[in-house]
Amino acid sequence: MSAFQSRGGRLHAEGVPLEDIAAQYGTPCYVYSRAALTAAYDDYHAALAAHGRADNATVCYAVKASSNLAVLNVFARLGAGFDIVSGGELARVLAAGGDAAKVVFSGVGKSRDEMRAALEAGIRCFNVESPAELEQLDAVAASLGKRAPIAFRVNPDVDPKTHPYISTGLKTSKFGVAYADALALYRRARDLANIEIRGIACHIGSQLLDPAPAAEAAQKVLALVDALAAEGIALAHIDIGGGMGIRYRDEPALSATDYLEPALKVLDGRNEHVLLEPGRSLVGNAGLLLTRVEVLKHAEERNFAVVDAAMNDLARPALYDAWHEIVAVSPRSDAPTTYDVVGPICESGDFLGHGRELALAQGDLLAVMSAGAYGMAMSSNYNTRPRAAEVMVDGDNAHLVRRREELPQLLALESVLP
Ligand code: LLP
Repeated sequence: MSAFQSRGGRLHAEGVPLEDIAAQYGTPCYVYSRAALTAAYDDYHAALAAHGRADNATVCYAVKASSNLAVLNVFARLGAGFDIVSGGELARVLAAGGDAAKVVFSGVGKSRDEMRAALEAGIRCFNVESPAELEQLDAVAASLGKRAPIAFRVNPDVDPKTHPYISTGLKTSKFGVAYADALALYRRARDLANIEIRGIACHIGSQLLDPAPAAEAAQKVLALVDALAAEGIALAHIDIGGGMGIRYRDEPALSATDYLEPALKVLDGRNEHVLLEPGRSLVGNAGLLLTRVEVLKHAEERNFAVVDAAMNDLARPALYDAWHEIVAVSPRSDAPTTYDVVGPICESGDFLGHGRELALAQGDLLAVMSAGAYGMAMSSNYNTRPRAAEVMVDGDNAHLVRRREELPQLLALESVLP
């Protein structure tokens, strides 16, 4: 059940009317539901437990999807691990009470500073994505007198059937090491004094709705695990990445059990610890973007609802032509009009939704749904717009978890020539 329900004609986040949140914290504002975050995490746990993996798997939340400290803290308290892609995300995880020993570090371009910080924090594993990175990590670890725990992120070359910008497991992708090179790389890693081989990883893409490619990837990865074992290289874990899609419009509403079943079946009977790196499916439908209609503009060909949120707040429509449901917080009974819901930014690509049937008056509140993943996390200050506030609802209480930015903060790092 969604944490965002209409009660008495007014949309609520758990027990709190969104109107109250807008009145107290202003708009635009991201609103998250703690109950929905928890339910999404529990769903993964149930899927793993059904395969006897309650204690032999770790859900490493992909921080990039939504990195607010309060979101990370909810998952940390539930026992989650974290998938990070930068030193910044590592700092967030540690500040939010996350356990470094459950952190995996992905990404094609880790800097030496980031490697050092992660080694010092004692993370579980670096997901290494190139031969050059392996050598660099060995050198950084040597300089600290440490051994760096690694997995190679292999590219299983399966087609995840998703948007090309978010397919990551194809041969043509910049991610991972080629499947055919993996054995040679593990042999090299075995010979490096400051590298400790821990596991293997893959991640094939995002917003995946078909479970078959993940199972195919798991199968390909297992074949490598067995080939490595035959050479005496034993792996302690298998990381099958993230990628489960969510319902934005008419996609199937998958559960983790639905999505993971075929992949977990492939892994049944294996002793290796399983790691997952879900992002979107843990947070996407646990958050919305609350925005207010500034003006209604009836142009020759189209009607525009100009709202106070824009592509700098939620980039997905502009960037991927992504569809997010947009609903009135307190729907009117008048006949609807077809609106393009757009922001105030000076770009034609600045829209949140095209052709939406809504009955609106200026000042009305709208909720842009399914905005919990890659929403605030991808926001910017374009047009010198302060970033939105973030609020987390927990039962009948709303907590401000990120203050709205203020203009002096936006200018503070800059200076003019003397
Ligand atoms: N692990 C790795 C190595 C990743 O690159 C990603 C996402 C994830 C895990 C989490 O994937 P998820 O479970 O969220 O699908 N900005 C795009 C999505 C980019 C995904 C990037 N990598 C969007 O808004 O749709």
